[in-house]
Amino acid sequence: MRKPFLAGNWKMNTDAASAVALAKGIVAAVGQADNIDVAVCPPFVYLQAVAMALSSSNVALGAQDVFHQPDGAFTGEISCKMLKDVCCTYAIIGHSERRHVIGETDELINNKIKAAINGGLLPIFCVGELLEERQAGKTNRIVSDQVKKGLDGICQERILAVTIAYEPVWAIGTGVNATSQQAQEVHAMIRDLVAKLYNKEIAGQLRIQYGGSAKPANTAELMAQPDVDGLLIGGASLKASDFAAMINTSIQVKCK
Ligand code: 13P
Repeated sequence: MRKPFLAGNWKMNTDAASAVALAKGIVAAVGQADNIDVAVCPPFVYLQAVAMALSSSNVALGAQDVFHQPDGAFTGEISCKMLKDVCCTYAIIGHSERRHVIGETDELINNKIKAAINGGLLPIFCVGELLEERQAGKTNRIVSDQVKKGLDGICQERILAVTIAYEPVWAIGTGVNATSQQAQEVHAMIRDLVAKLYNKEIAGQLRIQYGGSAKPANTAELMAQPDVDGLLIGGASLKASDFAAMINTSIQVKCK
């Protein structure tokens, strides 16, 4: 059985004080629950402070990105080793805002995923189609292309380090989530693809999160889908009570 996994992507939000307060609120809400994996991904500059707030809790720390080179003249970039140094377990890679706002390519994303795994981080690898791609009936083609390119060269022994996050771009920050059926269809398609690229057993173990306007009100329905193993949450993860409600609902739905 796949353990549910909820991660909060704080994006470029919070400040030093509110990041720590939010982390403490989430730690209190998660308590000793060990039937779900929970992570928060604050901005780079608050990782260390948030790591302290999370220490000896069940909430893991993630970064919102990572660079694939180990060190050197890469102004502004952060390596896997640096993230490990500040107690990160996860790194979000290939988020749509990095693909579409910053211009990251599939090749760069693939390099980052490989570097993260080699460096001992667990990638949360994001994929998802634009609205015009969905309207043109290209969702499966776009998403499978992103999955194949992102996972290129990652061997069977290492693939389970990866969580895939399906985040339809048109649902991110818009308040319009994919319906649970739309999410399930794409998640099932991704799982079939992983079975073809690797094998059925691996596909059965790999976790696939949904992201895009996930909130307390739609958590139960999304998490009830057989191939939805968790959520990657933006806006709603900035409020400890909302994030906590989503954690509790997910436990109820998946662990009954
Ligand atoms: P929202 O939950 O704010 O739509 O953001 C989703 C997201 O991009 C998480 O990575």
